[in-house]
Amino acid sequence: MEDIPGRIVITGVAGRIGPTVRAGLSGDAQHLVLLDRAPVEAQDDTETAVEADITDLPALVEAFEGADAVVHLAGIADEAPFADLLDANVRGTYNVLEAARRAGVGRVVLFSSNRVTGAYPIHHHVFADEPPRPDGLYGVSKVAVEALGQMYADTFGLEVVALRIGSFEEEPDETRHLATWLSPRDCVGFVRAALTAPGVTFTVAYAVSGNARRFWDLTAAANELGYRPVDDAAAFASRFADDDPFWHGGPQGGPSTGAEAVLPFVEDAAEVEGTPATAAD
Ligand SMILES: NC(=O)c1ccc[n+]([C@@H]2O[C@H](COP(=O)([O-])OP(=O)(O)OC[C@H]3O[C@@H](n4cnc5c(N)ncnc54)[C@H](O)[C@@H]3O)[C@@H](O)[C@H]2O)c1
Repeated sequence: MEDIPGRIVITGVAGRIGPTVRAGLSGDAQHLVLLDRAPVEAQDDTETAVEADITDLPALVEAFEGADAVVHLAGIADEAPFADLLDANVRGTYNVLEAARRAGVGRVVLFSSNRVTGAYPIHHHVFADEPPRPDGLYGVSKVAVEALGQMYADTFGLEVVALRIGSFEEEPDETRHLATWLSPRDCVGFVRAALTAPGVTFTVAYAVSGNARRFWDLTAAANELGYRPVDDAAAFASRFADDDPFWHGGPQGGPSTGAEAVLPFVEDAAEVEGTPATAAD
């Protein structure tokens, strides 16, 4: 395993996952650039805080100057109006990759999502190279995030790792998390592996703890990134009912996906007749 790169930019560092990534790299990276549109404070002279919006390409080019790697978390992390997802997740990721190219950054780690394949049924074991099957507009935006990463790797030789993040929580707090939980410790493990794995061109890997009931394959993470998760949500299984309807079938994205989850964000949806069926029925 190679060393953690010297200067790393973390976008979206003020959100739910950002502080864990920051703490997980602090001490090993020589310098962290903490970028968010929300205010963040540098704790000492090993950190620089940058208040910037990822829709602002020149600001990103300036912030990325001299960086060895970027870990890109910023964006909208859930279902939202499509225009907003296009702006924050698709245009924002384009800007991050383009700024990385212009600033000569070697590697970019993209925070994708399990929602890219959330419409596969729970009994289907999904490999990272299977066709996308997003469970909503947010998942569609992350398909575009991954496609942008692939294009920047193929066209410009940027090293890109897209991590399909599971359910990031301190501990599992709903039945679905027995399959989808990503512990903070494994989250850091995946990010560190994505930053240091040798020979990367473009890699997509699920970032999920080693949950016995998971439905995502971890071969790409093991082979291409060299990381095997250490936690397993099964340790918390006694908190949840064995016969929860979630295990009877339905989409991997869970009950909060499908038409009822998407339509509230579709403009003028009330004027459209009929309701589409859930993909994984
Ligand atoms: N939380 C999860 O379980 C989970 C699961 C799958 C994927 N992800 C992905 O991981 C990443 C981080 O998730 P999170 O839960 O920490 O999200 P979050 O919403 O808590 O944090 C997102 C951060 O991005 C910043 N941000 C948003 N738009 C921005 C913009 N235009 N310019 C600059 N900064 C902006 C916000 O200020 C915030 O600090 C996201 O890309 C999300 O899609 C998260």
